[in-house]
Amino acid sequence: METKPFQFANNTPLSLSPNFILPEENRPILSEVFSSASIPTIDLNNHDIDDLVSKISQACEKYGFFQIINHGVPKELCQRVLAVVTEFFQLPPEERAQFLTTDHSKLVKVFNYFQKVEGQGKVLMWGETFTHPWHPTEDFTHFLPKNPPQYREVFTEYAREIGTLMDRLLSLMSQGLGLEKDCLKRKIGERPAIYTQANYYPPCPDPELTMGLPAHNDISTLVVLLQMEGVSGLQVVIDGKWVPVEPVPDAFVVNIADQMQVLSNGRYKSVLHRAVTNNRLARLSLPMFYAPNNDTVIGPIEDLIDDVHPPMYRNYSYKEYMDEFYRQEGARRRVKEAFELQH
Ligand code: OGA
Ligand code: NI
Repeated sequence: METKPFQFANNTPLSLSPNFILPEENRPILSEVFSSASIPTIDLNNHDIDDLVSKISQACEKYGFFQIINHGVPKELCQRVLAVVTEFFQLPPEERAQFLTTDHSKLVKVFNYFQKVEGQGKVLMWGETFTHPWHPTEDFTHFLPKNPPQYREVFTEYAREIGTLMDRLLSLMSQGLGLEKDCLKRKIGERPAIYTQANYYPPCPDPELTMGLPAHNDISTLVVLLQMEGVSGLQVVIDGKWVPVEPVPDAFVVNIADQMQVLSNGRYKSVLHRAVTNNRLARLSLPMFYAPNNDTVIGPIEDLIDDVHPPMYRNYSYKEYMDEFYRQEGARRRVKEAFELQH
């Protein structure tokens, strides 16, 4: 029997029924997580612009992940958005059920991630995700839930702030690649697809047997993620080892996604990451994604190609990329690889 995702977060106490249990080879092996390494934390309140650009571009090249502090988004707003999203996940299941669908084309939906396992079918991940569009400049209110009542107002304010922050990050990243400040933003295109995917992970009776979010690369271009303080779960690969991204007070986690790796012709890395669970506390993360729209053609930026740096990827429309992404659903997706060029 398939567990209905919307019943999940409200089920207390939660039991780890067989449809959440991964086969041994897919489990997280938490004893092997390497806690002595970490991704860099970068202070955005740095008036030495060359220094800031170089710190950011080094982090994008080496880790594909970093945290930012003094980013200008008010702490109190971050707290309010986390509170209102938490409240959404605490709504009665019937209320969240209106957003349940398996239709990929739906922009607003509640779903569970899963892995396809031979002989076992779909294994559900220990979390629930709510996705909807946000846009810093266009009215997206009609996409937002009416409940909790403050959701629309808080999210609209948050979207404006994150929009400004993303513009700034894209400008710094463009400069880091030696390009005009507005280059990346222009390449991602006029009508970007901008959405959030709030993840709620309830405490899990046995975090060794399941996963909150399986290892994946983000397919968009740029991600700004807000996570709750005091509960860790996000992990990234550094030098072949899983390393935790511990919450830093008042910080955002920033990561490079696949389209940025392609645009930068492989210089900026879209790195494998996952979310594991814990048995004490619920965890909430709120990634904000900035992606091209379906018709936008993505490929290595011409100024970054020369005899020494031939193009590593072919040009494609983002729709082609998304089609490949959905084709690989449930597997350990290797979407980027499908667009690589051999030299
Ligand atoms: C994601 C993601 C990590 C987390 O939603 O793509 O990587 O910490 N989330 O929940
Ligand atoms: Ni991700």
